[in-house]
Amino acid sequence: MIEVNDIHKSFGDAKILKGISTTFEKGKTNLVIGQSGSGKTVFLKTLLGLYTPDQGSIIYDGTDYSDLSTDEKSNLRSKMGMVFQGSALFDSMSIAENVKFPLRMFTKQSKSEMNDRVDLVLKRVNLGDAHNKLPSEASGGMQKRVAIARAIVNQPKYLFCDEPNSGLDPKTATVIDNLIQEITHEYDITTIINTHDMNSVMEIGQKIIFLKDGFKEWEGSNKNIFKTDNEAVTDFVYSSDLFKRVQKMYLEEDQ
Ligand SMILES: Nc1ncnc2c1ncn2[C@@H]1O[C@H](COP(=O)(O)OP(=O)(O)OP(=O)(O)O)[C@@H](O)[C@H]1O
Ligand SMILES: [Mg+2]
Repeated sequence: MIEVNDIHKSFGDAKILKGISTTFEKGKTNLVIGQSGSGKTVFLKTLLGLYTPDQGSIIYDGTDYSDLSTDEKSNLRSKMGMVFQGSALFDSMSIAENVKFPLRMFTKQSKSEMNDRVDLVLKRVNLGDAHNKLPSEASGGMQKRVAIARAIVNQPKYLFCDEPNSGLDPKTATVIDNLIQEITHEYDITTIINTHDMNSVMEIGQKIIFLKDGFKEWEGSNKNIFKTDNEAVTDFVYSSDLFKRVQKMYLEEDQ
């Protein structure tokens, strides 16, 4: 579980996060939604320890990050997996080497232990025979699965995914969403996913926080997001033509 208490983050004079508080439970897919520029990536990078908040605290299973020594911080960081916006694979490394990278960075495992673990997670994401391919030889959906395998290879307690299905067709996007949700449940991970995809909201939005201009404007679940009368949320939810049509359909049914 991650508890976020009143975090603020500015870059120079620009206030980006303006006092966000919430909790993210383990074994759940927690979503952060909001328009482009609302602060989702800055928020996720702050949770990952890449940015230090100017104010407020982040508590990881009872441990306040700011109380930790440098060694303890890097130990905690080794328990975090990250799927970056756009996969961020190393182009010149094979898929297996990409996945192995966190094990080399953070563990002292033997070669065969590492290889076994890489085999296991590649199988888990249905890429059991892609070890020797280069990322450039893989489709967008495969690259996302490699990024997920790399994020979970060191058995993280926390998994952060920034727009994990952007650029994918709707069917492949759903496969990726479901994979992240299954892994979250299977390994009891605290997972936080940035998205602006309403399909993801409906499929895996067990807990959702909605950011607007650096504030948490609303929080809830996919069960109640369609019932809220918060205008910022409804603007966002019904911004796509598809959802406008769905809303119209419901309204017509009610008449
Ligand atoms: N390192 C930085 N230095 C200065 N400003 C930054 C930095 N990173 C982000 N910002 C600014 O913070 C704001 C929020 O950016 P952020 O990337 O978090 O948005 P986002 O919600 O992830 O958008 P998108 O949906 O497009 O990915 C933007 O105005 C951006 O220009
Ligand atoms: Mg972003």
